[in-house]
Parts: sequence; C-alpha cells; structure tokens
Amino acid sequence: MTHKILISMGLLRESIELARSRAEVDLHAGDDPLPKAELIARLKDKEGLVCQITDTIDAEVLGAAARLKVVANVAVGYNNIDVAAAHRRGIVVTNTPDVLTDTTADFAWALLMATARRVVEADGYVRAGKWHRWEFLRLLGGDVHAKTLGVIGFGRIGRAVARRALGFDMRVLYCDTVRADLATEAELRATFVDKAVLLRESDFVSLHSVLTPETRHLIDAEALRAMKPSAYLINAARGPIVDEAALVRALTERWIAGAGLDVFEAEPTVHPGLLGLDNVVLAPHIASASEATRHKMATLAVENCLAVLDGRPPLTPVH
Ligand code: DGY
Repeated sequence: MTHKILISMGLLRESIELARSRAEVDLHAGDDPLPKAELIARLKDKEGLVCQITDTIDAEVLGAAARLKVVANVAVGYNNIDVAAAHRRGIVVTNTPDVLTDTTADFAWALLMATARRVVEADGYVRAGKWHRWEFLRLLGGDVHAKTLGVIGFGRIGRAVARRALGFDMRVLYCDTVRADLATEAELRATFVDKAVLLRESDFVSLHSVLTPETRHLIDAEALRAMKPSAYLINAARGPIVDEAALVRALTERWIAGAGLDVFEAEPTVHPGLLGLDNVVLAPHIASASEATRHKMATLAVENCLAVLDGRPPLTPVH
C-alpha cells in the first residue's frame, strides 16, 4: 500500500520528487501556513507529515491524525511541536540537526559583524546620497578582534560560533546547563562561567539555547542591565529567549550598544520599537537560509519521514 504524506510547505523540487518517488504526496506550497482546521482535515488520512516551524503541531492536531506515524520538522528547533503528546501516541518526531550548524553560525557572525561595524547604517548612508567626503569620525563602530565573546547555549551551533572566534583572537566564555568536556574547551579556548559572569564580561553575547520554559526571557531587563554599555546582543536562536520590550528599552536608553536579531518573540511581527532604531540589525529568521543548507534540510526531513514509513529507524529523531 502506498504511504500518504502531507508536505505542509514549499520545499525544494528535488525533495518533493524524492517524497513522490516513494509516497503519495499532498503538497501545500502556499506562502501562509495551513490554518489549523485545514491542517487537521488534510492529516486525517496521512501517515507522514513534513512540516515547518510555523506549523503548530499540538495535541489537538496530533489527536485528530489517527494514522500519523511521523512528524518530520524541517528545522533543528522543534518548539512548534508537542513532542510529549506525539510520543504518547507513538508518533516519531524528527528534526534536521548538523546540516545547518555552520550556515547558522556563519549568520550569527554576519549579524555580529554587521552590528558592531554598522554595515547596514553605512549602506543606507551611501544609498541616501549622504556621502560627500571621507570623514574621520563617520560611523565609528566597535572592534570585534581580541574582544570577549559570550556564548549562551554551547551545543552544536554555539560551539561553531565559538570556533569562528578563534580566527578573531577572541576570548570565549560560555554557559550552559552542562559543562563541555575538557577537550572541547581546550580546542575552542572556551571558559565555562555562570550567566552573571558571562553577561558582565562579554563584549558580544550570542544566544544559541533551545527555547524551553526555562530559557523563555532568559535575557530580560535585569540581564540587559548586567551587560556592558559597549556590548552587543546577538540572537539567531529563538525570539522568546529575549524579552523584546526590555530589549527595546535597553537599545533606546543605551544600556547596551546594539543588537543583531534574526528571530523575534511573535514572528513575523517585530516589536515596533525596534524598527526605528539604528543600533539594531534585523533579519527575517534566515540564519540557515543558504541554498545548499536548505537543500540538505529538506532532503533530511523527507528521508526521516520515509524511513519511519518504511519501518526503518529515523536518521535524526527527537528524543
Ligand atoms: C531551525 O532550524 O530551527 C531554524 O530556526 C529554522 O531554519
């Protein structure tokens, strides 16, 4: 019997073809996520779901999908899925780790550099025809080399961000719920500290934690007040890790020097207070968006889905 899969997003053509070569595919390629009622209706006869972070796969959706065996998220993060509810129903959940680590770390660095060196402001200045002469004091930014980078969340992406700091001769501090092994600390020249020390001493604080009830608003007004006035905050993890209203105050009142944000508390809504500020660089959640990486993510998600439907172990299950 042919398996039935719902792909709730516009994937790359090759991965859709891969799915079609082994299953009957119901594809929703629209720009907006499927409304909940339609998602539930279209999942009724499906054994597999390939979905994206904007699809909320909660207990109600899972409960209505009696034939569902696997939810394959096309992302490393899976806070859009009620994993416990899925597991209770014997539904496998998979994500796409590893394939996006370096691309995401590259982008965290792009935000870090753009924010410190005011690249977006500089671009706007030139385009607006304001550049009439070279000026010694124009668009002065912060140095990156030889500064201190604080990484919060020292998993795969946090470590890849720290590895790039070696080339900038930076001191690296990190905090996480568990300490890395000594070999990793030595290789990355990274020092395990508590959050208070990291916030106090870092020139750049880069967030790479997963979003859980414990990490929601991990960076709140108190944390922002603890940072140096010359420091920058980078978030390419999940928006709700930062209290966005507090960040607006911190940037407006210069408690910190700037921020680079790829993620927001209520995406795609961005706090209006951020939009008028020139000391923040904003991106629409694109840290893993290189052509090659998006291709790998899509392929891995489809392979995970097909593996489960074929009775094989998934490649990258969420436990
Ligand atoms: C992820 O993988 O979790 C990103 O946020 C989306 O690419």
